[in-house]
Amino acid sequence: MQQQKYYDVLIIGSGAAGLGLALRLQDSLQVAVIAKGSLQEGCTLYAQGGISAVLGDSDSFESHIADTIDAGAGLCNPDAVRFAVEKGPEVIRWLVDYGVPFTKHQQNDGGTGYHLTREGGHSKRRVVHADDATGHALETTLVEKARRKGNISLFDHHIAVDLITGRKLGLDTQRCLGAYILDRNRNRVEVFRARCSVLATGGASKVYLYTSNPDTSSGDGIAMAWRAGCRIVNMEFNQFHPTCLYHPRAKSFLVTEAVRGEGGRLLLPDRSPFLERFDPRGNLAPRDIVARAIDHEMKRLGEEYVLLDISHKSAPFIKEHFPTVFNRCRELGYDMTLEPIPVVPAAHYTCGGVRTDLRGRTDIPGLYTIGEAACTGMHGANRMASNSLLECLAFADSASEDIASVIGDLSPPGELPAWDESRVKDSDEEVVVSHNWEELRRFMWNYVGIVRTDKRLERAHRRVDLLQQEILEYYSHFRVTNDLLELRNLAQVAELIIVSARHRKESRGLHYTLDYPLPEKGRAFHTVLSPNQPDGHPAAVEEPVGSQGPVNWS
Ligand code: FAD
Ligand code: SIN
Repeated sequence: MQQQKYYDVLIIGSGAAGLGLALRLQDSLQVAVIAKGSLQEGCTLYAQGGISAVLGDSDSFESHIADTIDAGAGLCNPDAVRFAVEKGPEVIRWLVDYGVPFTKHQQNDGGTGYHLTREGGHSKRRVVHADDATGHALETTLVEKARRKGNISLFDHHIAVDLITGRKLGLDTQRCLGAYILDRNRNRVEVFRARCSVLATGGASKVYLYTSNPDTSSGDGIAMAWRAGCRIVNMEFNQFHPTCLYHPRAKSFLVTEAVRGEGGRLLLPDRSPFLERFDPRGNLAPRDIVARAIDHEMKRLGEEYVLLDISHKSAPFIKEHFPTVFNRCRELGYDMTLEPIPVVPAAHYTCGGVRTDLRGRTDIPGLYTIGEAACTGMHGANRMASNSLLECLAFADSASEDIASVIGDLSPPGELPAWDESRVKDSDEEVVVSHNWEELRRFMWNYVGIVRTDKRLERAHRRVDLLQQEILEYYSHFRVTNDLLELRNLAQVAELIIVSARHRKESRGLHYTLDYPLPEKGRAFHTVLSPNQPDGHPAAVEEPVGSQGPVNWS
């Protein structure tokens, strides 16, 4: 029989949220960090623009809070926004102490020593960055630090299958006791027991055919939390980034919004400007407005892309500020110092997620969620640029403090039931997985994308129901693989998105429907999906904004 692993804290995910937490926890705790691919792979690695924090002399917490709440279209949890914003300067100091090489500059920095760039929705320069490859600098530094810590065990190519809870085992506790984890190298599912567990698995943008995200973003944590019995909130708010490079070989390549922050302009293919027709802030309007404007113009004109132009700036300026984007464009045959580049919107960020409080606690005792997988309420109906890494790192810190305060009361779980493979065999038809994967992502793009209607959502709902039945049948007959697990999670998350979107009979923030093109006046609510319904399907209920109080585990 396999030896079951045991840790004080099990962290599933090795991005900014997961590693940020692992490094904040006391050295006396034994911590496991799990990544389903390489340790570095995940959205964090690809972040370009930067991390928002109030550092400039002319900036203030109140201004950052007001901009965030404005972008969030009436659905931000003000406590979560204030908490993260006020934590910003400390987060940056912590990263600087760890050696993250942020870009220094003497101009436009309000005397901080760091160059501050600007992105959509921000009324001030407040985005700290490492050129246009902030995520690479951040992730490589955090991985390096974690490797050197004696109390942190790192497991790459291990994918979590499901959480193990007292409820699932029929015990008289609801507590999370660990997780089943597939070791992809040995092809076997192991039991990881833990006093507390943390989902830091990132978002679910891979549910869409076109996305800026790497393959890791299949919503695994959200789906696992849902199956375990957590509430899931605001899944209708999927953010589409306005500017991904349009090129058959540039799969998922993002062109940072900081290009527009530094003077870049979006143009129609005939080189005429258009954004001012949609919002007086033009190129610096929040993302939902810009992405919708592009989608509208592309559909109106039958074009496959629009143009992004910063060639009016000097070549040294462009190369100094955007070396990653410049070099990638050059590899693909575009010189952005001389000409505009073609761009299209793509799925980018999951604003909804597992409902948590300000300490990262979920509905299940002993289970935390942080980072993009969580819904703290900070982003409301639309996330402002560069607020995600801030949220990951701010809530990693508050979760670490909460874990320190409760871990003494959480006894180590005893031996747990092993993974049962007695009734399954190796798959004989992998094509089912690849076909369903493609079908799911395509109908989500076409029916549940930037612009929605009741009819499109209804169609998508019928299809996802069918797919889920097929996937469930497949899952109960065959041994689990990485692709099968991701497909099962994507289909689950797709259902959560569709049910939430069908419930919201208004347009607000990132959720735009032609059938109800305006926000409901005087009424703002979160869409909360409650698990464990008699028919097994999610039921949506409305929760007034501002009522997301602390979660009590006693
Ligand atoms: P991730 O960094 O995505 O990490 C997820 C981790 O979970 C990975 O280690 C993965 O292997 C692991 N995982 C997932 N499922 C499982 C499983 N079942 N079992 C085991 N492990 C699992 N935000 C900003 O604030 N500023 C920016 O400039 C910015 N730029 C961006 C640019 C791009 C191209 C993209 C895609 C996103 C950008 N964002 C930016 C958003 C931001 O990068 C992400 O929201 C953030 O990095 C999420 O961090 P995370 O730790 O929650 O998840
Ligand atoms: C970008 O650099 O445009 C991405 C920033 C973000 O998603 O926060």
